[in-house]
Amino acid sequence: MGSRRGLLQRLAAASGAVGLAGCSDLLGRRTAAPVADLGPNPRADDLPPRQHAWDETLPADSAGNPLAPRHYRVLLLDLGEDPTEAAAATIERAMRTIEGAYDYGPDGLLHMLAWGTTYFDRLGALGDSPIRRPRVISRTDDPDLLSFDAALVLASNVPSHLSAVEGAMFGTRSELGGESVDARLGEVFSVSAHRTGFLGEGLPADHATVEGIPDGIPGDAPMFTGFFSGRAGTQASEDRVTIPDGPGAGGTTMHLSHLEESLEGWWNLAESDRVSRMFSAEFSPEDLGELGQSMPFADAVREHAGDGAVGHWEKVRRAREGGEPLLLRRDFNTTDGQQAGVHFLSLQRDLADFEKTRDAMNGWWLREEHEDLKDRQNNGLLEFITVRSRANFYVPPREDRVFPDV
Ligand code: HEM
Repeated sequence: MGSRRGLLQRLAAASGAVGLAGCSDLLGRRTAAPVADLGPNPRADDLPPRQHAWDETLPADSAGNPLAPRHYRVLLLDLGEDPTEAAAATIERAMRTIEGAYDYGPDGLLHMLAWGTTYFDRLGALGDSPIRRPRVISRTDDPDLLSFDAALVLASNVPSHLSAVEGAMFGTRSELGGESVDARLGEVFSVSAHRTGFLGEGLPADHATVEGIPDGIPGDAPMFTGFFSGRAGTQASEDRVTIPDGPGAGGTTMHLSHLEESLEGWWNLAESDRVSRMFSAEFSPEDLGELGQSMPFADAVREHAGDGAVGHWEKVRRAREGGEPLLLRRDFNTTDGQQAGVHFLSLQRDLADFEKTRDAMNGWWLREEHEDLKDRQNNGLLEFITVRSRANFYVPPREDRVFPDV
């Protein structure tokens, strides 16, 4: 990873190359308060070096599976100006304010500051960065391919913590968790879009007032589709998704897509059909309750395709490498836009891992097996979801979280 000074020099060069307004005097604009002068992060020893390291803070259910935070907010950010050392210092002070306000964990706050394709484009460095612009990767969807400078990801079991952070960082709130707010992300970024949502027992049923959400969603369902998602054995580890070396080492990539769900059709299926569409035909509803941390994999997806229908899990399960899933899924339910859906936030070492998994989910490789298996119909969840947008980000390690230079 390069130095921030290197980044500013590159920006100055980029401004010459692509005519970005205001870049050429960046070096001249170095101020008296560069990040280096802030001194080391006082909480560096208490917090994991990886911003994406949340798992150790999560409690477990009775089977030992991690219980994800219950409330989420992702603020999609645009830079008001090109990077300067003054802006870097403001961002770092603001992030330290957030860190200081709450314990690091789901009962306090979990967070990540991620950087998007617009940011790397500004640097003229998108091609060398760990990310690329999102692409259309299924022929059933025509999503908006979005680009942002950054994303602030917030998660907590306490929903008011999320609004407090937003109020302190982008509004006028003057204290956060009892600490005074002396730097705001809003001095450097503007909020271009929000993603909000929830995950966990009871929360989908609480949102059944939104049009299109059947009121029969069971009171204990953790997701709108009724199932638990996140068995330890179905998730990549934080180590697996960490970029081991080269550009962005120590960080990870983040994909964020917005999927709309057609829940009426889903809940009209018999329970056994919902199980075989979500998982695989060999599971019964009773089996699922017994499963613990992992699921026995029959690898019979071609056989099931020959019978006319396949499950979501049995397709994506085939994208594993070395026995491990490629994605660390941190997705959550949403009613943004007054529409039931999922914000599919996933972490992976390389965005190609996401695309490979999505390819497996598309199931086109199974279409020859039976004429009833279509792009959407009888093809796992695809009949019930529509992808509205995609965006890609890089999540740097904590010490490089401000204007990463990869
Ligand atoms: C509405 C959208 C989605 C829902 C409701 C959903 C639901 C689920 C569920 C219930 C599981 C089983 C996990 C468990 O038992 O712990 C699962 C596994 C998984 N899903 Fe999804 N999913 C959705 C979209 C996606 C997308 C868009 C992708 C990626 C392209 C994806 C990739 C995976 C992977 C990689 C696994 C684990 C596979 C393994 O065990 O190796 N899912 N999903």
